[in-house]
Amino acid sequence: MSVLEVSELELSYGGIRALKGVSLSLEEGQITVLLGANGAGKTSLLKAISGLVKPSKGEIKLWGESSLGWPAYRITSLGVAHVPEGRGIFAGLSVRENLQIGGFLAPSKEMPARIEQALTLFPRLKERYSQLAGSLSGGEQQMLALARALVARPRLLLLDEPSLGLAPIIAQEIFRTIRQVHQTGLSVLVVEQNARLALQVADYAYVLKTGEVETHGPASEIRGLEQVSKAYLGVT
Ligand SMILES: Nc1ncnc2c1ncn2[C@@H]1O[C@H](COP(=O)(O)OP(=O)(O)O)[C@@H](O)[C@H]1O
Ligand SMILES: [Mg+2]
Repeated sequence: MSVLEVSELELSYGGIRALKGVSLSLEEGQITVLLGANGAGKTSLLKAISGLVKPSKGEIKLWGESSLGWPAYRITSLGVAHVPEGRGIFAGLSVRENLQIGGFLAPSKEMPARIEQALTLFPRLKERYSQLAGSLSGGEQQMLALARALVARPRLLLLDEPSLGLAPIIAQEIFRTIRQVHQTGLSVLVVEQNARLALQVADYAYVLKTGEVETHGPASEIRGLEQVSKAYLGVT
């Protein structure tokens, strides 16, 4: 069954048409990457899926059920976790407190085990458990954002530009972890500017261009288009 089915989705901000009929589907256990230049509508699509913005037309189905128009909290409780562009962690709170917020829907007796499990993926966060999140490096903050999302034990993880602003080696580490958590059966939709890196990890890829799907296919095929698509894939 499809985890996510987006059909002919349209979304505008005032007069700006950010999505002009986008269709996309994500199968259970897949990592799908969403590529495209700045302003293509990638963030808007993720926000629409998690109920943060309201599409004007089209359909969104999560696990076969229409979630269009649902409030964000209801989509979260279905098992969708969204790590936003810019990470969205609380700089003035500690690593521990940030992780606790990730599990706010979880039964409190499960919290220690969930946090411990997230920390085993990110030993560096464990060392910085009591430190303020704002004092972490960019890479560590991204790890915290990911760990916080995982504490909620999502079934679908939405990641918006997890490698933005990070050194290449840290970006690789982030993607290694994404692959690792995906092996537990988690489905992932990740927006990424670093097409080369993302296509190494993803099963399937969509390329958005000014609010429309320009092309899509298995990541291995999209990788094959790399040479002709240098400009919009941002491959160097
Ligand atoms: N809150 C907003 N208000 C007005 N326009 C917006 C807003 N958010 C995004 N846009 C516009 O919508 C289009 C798609 O943006 P976005 O979804 O952020 O693209 P991407 O994530 O691919 O860079 C762009 O033209 C952008 O300027
Ligand atoms: Mg964006």
